[in-house]
Amino acid sequence: MADAFKAVPITDKVYWVGAIDWEIRDFHGYATSRGTTYNAYLVMGEKVALMDTVKGPFFGEMMERIASVVDPKKIEYIVSNHSEMDHSGSLPQAIAAMEPSKVLASEMGGRALKAHFGLDVTTVKEGETLDLGDMTVEFHETRMLHWPDSMWSWLPDRGVMFTNDAFGMHLAGQERFTDEVDWSVILEEETKYFANILLPMSNLIQKLLVKVGQWNLPVKILATDHGPIWRQDLDKVIGLYDRWSRQEPTRKAVVTYDTMWKSTSQMASAVAEGLAAGGASPRVMPLAGSHRSDVMTELLEAGGLLVGSPTLNNNMFPTVADALTYIKGLKPRNLVGGAFGSYGWSGEVVKQLNAVLDEMQVERVSDGVRAMYVPDAAALAACRQLGQQVAQRLVERTK
Ligand code: FEO
Repeated sequence: MADAFKAVPITDKVYWVGAIDWEIRDFHGYATSRGTTYNAYLVMGEKVALMDTVKGPFFGEMMERIASVVDPKKIEYIVSNHSEMDHSGSLPQAIAAMEPSKVLASEMGGRALKAHFGLDVTTVKEGETLDLGDMTVEFHETRMLHWPDSMWSWLPDRGVMFTNDAFGMHLAGQERFTDEVDWSVILEEETKYFANILLPMSNLIQKLLVKVGQWNLPVKILATDHGPIWRQDLDKVIGLYDRWSRQEPTRKAVVTYDTMWKSTSQMASAVAEGLAAGGASPRVMPLAGSHRSDVMTELLEAGGLLVGSPTLNNNMFPTVADALTYIKGLKPRNLVGGAFGSYGWSGEVVKQLNAVLDEMQVERVSDGVRAMYVPDAAALAACRQLGQQVAQRLVERTK
């Protein structure tokens, strides 16, 4: 076997044996402009355990990294903390190659692995432990973070919490620790990951953070399944999760839109002027050049959402429908907003946008602004007023 891929020690007797995906640019709808990693870990107890596996095509890379430390056949246990295929895709191959005595997952994980691969695994409950001889692994259920099957595995002997998707980010690189990467990159990617993966679970994250506080465990390392590992700034990232999952209103407002002949574009600029005049901080995101996942990232710490679209064949513009469907699914809360758009003759789009904003429980300040063909001075003034009305509510909400 070639030896290009090596394991990386993360602490005494614990190794990173994951894979680096430099190429991926779309992760189920999320633009991963810096690629990602699929992290798996070897715990070299008297009995050896592998924590998670990697996406299917990266099986060979993981095996090479494992083989740089130990004969893969010596792996006694495989723990599946999360059954999504970026972590379980190579599990069937791993089982065939390693022949572990047990594969362990949460009860929901057992069901998911059966459904995905027809596997029968050993299921563990909250607080159950696995004896590795000189070390112990303790399992904690973290349902819906990210899927119903998710669990964290705690290695008290080394202070390592294996957190599956939590605290991860999509960032490919040879740096294995967050403190080896510029903080601005870490913050940007962590923000994007939370906004695009974890935001819908905000209520559960609040509950989990309370539970983590009660566990009061001496965690030294947060070993996530994506991107670099946290061995410093643990309080900082936990604080960010706390702040983001509260979804408290701010004075920032995202204006997102698409345009056919620059009419809706002019309206967006006028809305932004009104927002600024009213004391809000607009971020204008034209969908012709902004990916839906970047709009979502801007929205994470925003209090306002204004959406614009021309009417095209009695419908909203496809890019706007795409972004709104995506954003709605991620369940941003506590937003104030409104809609605007140009039209030629039928002009249903503002009504359609309002309906989506209502479904998202956005507090709409008005029924929005429509402009026939090209916005005149009155229509642009109405757009400025729309921006000002949203700004006024944001100022009131953040006093
Ligand atoms: Fe990284 Fe939910 O999978």
